[in-house]
Amino acid sequence: MVQMWRLLLLCATSILIGPTIGSSADSPPITQVLVAYHSLSGNTERMAAAVAEGARTVPHTEVIVRRIGSVTAEELFAADAIVLGSPVYWSNMAGEVKAFIDDWQFKFGVFPEFKLKNKVGAAFATGGQISSGKELTMLSILAAMLGNYMITVSGGGAFGASATTEGNSPGIDEQELGSARELGRRVADVAGAVKRGFALQERGVR
Ligand SMILES: Cc1cc2nc3c(=O)[nH]c(=O)nc-3n(C[C@H](O)[C@H](O)[C@H](O)COP(=O)(O)O)c2cc1C
Repeated sequence: MVQMWRLLLLCATSILIGPTIGSSADSPPITQVLVAYHSLSGNTERMAAAVAEGARTVPHTEVIVRRIGSVTAEELFAADAIVLGSPVYWSNMAGEVKAFIDDWQFKFGVFPEFKLKNKVGAAFATGGQISSGKELTMLSILAAMLGNYMITVSGGGAFGASATTEGNSPGIDEQELGSARELGRRVADVAGAVKRGFALQERGVR
């Protein structure tokens, strides 16, 4: 009789605990977002901080923010999403940002395997004038990402988040910081969905 009670207790316990064990094994993987930027006078750095802030609002997301020259191979390859920020220099991205992208090959050897393939990519920019190269700067960054078979996304604007910093502008305003947060949120959302999708695919679930 005592044995039967023990058996019943065991069954009840496994019914109660079973789903908990199952869900912890199935808990979503952590999405790693790398935000890398160049900035001399601090504007693009402020936008980078806002992008990171937005990404951190998405559950199961880890974010690292780096000056562009200090990104390590480990950080680059561990990232599920890479968001690059540049000031506009002569209507395009800063040389430092282009050099970093070239280093994807020279330093990190991404080709011919396309080692950044299927990572999510996005861009943000700050420029002194309203219409003097911010969109081209973001598009140039996105073009390099597409060339690496990355999955590019926008957010906060048609090509990414941007801010005007000089001339009649009083500097980066709350709306522009909001667009940067929106970009960060969207990047983390999409990167999480992509990561979970590929994980299911690997397990043979379609
Ligand atoms: C060499 C140089 C070239 C620039 N060219 C442009 C330009 O073509 N268009 C523009 O809107 N701003 C231009 N700017 C202004 C910067 O893009 C702007 O001040 C930016 O916000 C600086 O970013 P930072 O504070 O992160 O360094 C230029 C600045 C420098 C130093």
